[in-house]
Amino acid sequence: MRSAVRMVSGAILALVCGAAGAETISLPPPMLNSRVTVSKALQDRRSIRSFSEEPVSDRFLSGVLWAANGFNRPDKRTNATALNKQTIRIYVCMKSGAYLYDAKKNVLEKVCGEDLRVALAGHQPFAAKAPVSLVIAADLSDPLYAKPPRNALTHYDAGIVSGNIYLYCAANGLATVCRATMDREALRKALKLPDTMFLHLNHPIGYPATDGYASNYPDSAVNKCLAEECARRGIVLTDWHLHIRGGMTPQLAAAREGAWIVRTGALENHGREWPLCDNAKLAAFADAVHAVKVGGRPLPVGIQVNDRDWFRQIDKETRAKLDYILADTMIMGVRPDGRSNRLWEPQEIPDPETWMERYFEHNMQILDEPISILANPTFLPAAIADKYDSLWTEERMRKLIAKAVARGIALEIQAESSFPRPKFLRLAKEMGAKFSFGTNNFDARPKDLSRWLEAIVWLDLGPNDIWSNEKK
Ligand SMILES: Cc1cc2nc3c(=O)[nH]c(=O)nc-3n(C[C@H](O)[C@H](O)[C@H](O)COP(=O)(O)O)c2cc1C
Repeated sequence: MRSAVRMVSGAILALVCGAAGAETISLPPPMLNSRVTVSKALQDRRSIRSFSEEPVSDRFLSGVLWAANGFNRPDKRTNATALNKQTIRIYVCMKSGAYLYDAKKNVLEKVCGEDLRVALAGHQPFAAKAPVSLVIAADLSDPLYAKPPRNALTHYDAGIVSGNIYLYCAANGLATVCRATMDREALRKALKLPDTMFLHLNHPIGYPATDGYASNYPDSAVNKCLAEECARRGIVLTDWHLHIRGGMTPQLAAAREGAWIVRTGALENHGREWPLCDNAKLAAFADAVHAVKVGGRPLPVGIQVNDRDWFRQIDKETRAKLDYILADTMIMGVRPDGRSNRLWEPQEIPDPETWMERYFEHNMQILDEPISILANPTFLPAAIADKYDSLWTEERMRKLIAKAVARGIALEIQAESSFPRPKFLRLAKEMGAKFSFGTNNFDARPKDLSRWLEAIVWLDLGPNDIWSNEKK
């Protein structure tokens, strides 16, 4: 898929400010959707020491940090501290470096560019496998802690934080273990800690090691909530943006349907620079997907179209094999070397407003094509994504939505993408748009579907709001 889309559209949007070494990661709001009761979380709490490599989504990272040491009142936190000294500091260690959690701003401030997970693991290498580790430190700079035993009370403070982390993980299907083991000297040095900062405990966090794709799905807390929410609303979701590539096959797609609520279509990129570049390849792809049956019916087959004359390239007989057509607006014009201009690659946009006028026309022209789904609506290149609110004016949004509604084209809500933004979605709902759901996968690994769940709940979607497959 489109690696740049992933980069700019993660749930979090990691905003990098300033020079290398001074980065700040803006966290998204914490994931607090778990319906698990405290009693159930207590029942499930345990130490797990075997982690899969699957990254923890930023919503969950934000959630576990909030549970550990976030603010639940303007000036007080989720964790109790002796004499309300609020001594605890959390360091977040990941592949990209080590960060200090700023709970007020909900950001991570980079303190070190090294991957410290090995130093953190100490003599327990399993801990280095977890994608993220939280270090629970205590700030002893308050005069209360000037005399020995200086850190006495903060042991209790740290223990409470550890308990919170355990419970959040238990409630959200995450694996963790509280550890006193760590190479404290190496960490102190790398994190440039003052003498007044004491390292108490750490928590590697990840998904429990599992043995396969299908088994991952039903275990995920988000997917459980999504299944419940859809059942309650009478919605059947279909992943219309599932690419057959990177190890994903029609057979795996079908197996996923059996294992989990989401129904699926299967598509691949069509166009001169893409895998399905002629009618023979396209027909073979459609036949291969249709040959796979789920519940006695063939898997729906689609294409993602990338050339603006795609409908003239495909002959009638091959066109008849396709169940749906998906397009995004992320290729506009050609570059000087003759290759199509892919907007997810770096762009120079000296005059964003003039560019936007052209881009908006490009959006409207795509809606003239006989497509079924507009993927990633209102996407903007990374260079100007911060100007979303001024470039995507309400007038432009309304025109685009009105055309999609008039032409029966669904607007996609994509997993792990920050486009379209909430204002657009709200307007689209008001204006009677139909929504489709997609993962836009790169490979066979599951994606974080929390954005689907949020959109369904937030927009209060019902069966009539969901696009269903109609041949165009
Ligand atoms: C203060 C503290 C320090 C711990 N340190 C380690 C450690 O360094 N390595 C480890 O594998 N487990 C560590 N544990 C986890 C305990 O071994 C674990 O909680 C205990 O075996 C009970 O298992 P349970 O958490 O599944 O109930 C620690 C637990 C606590 C409370």
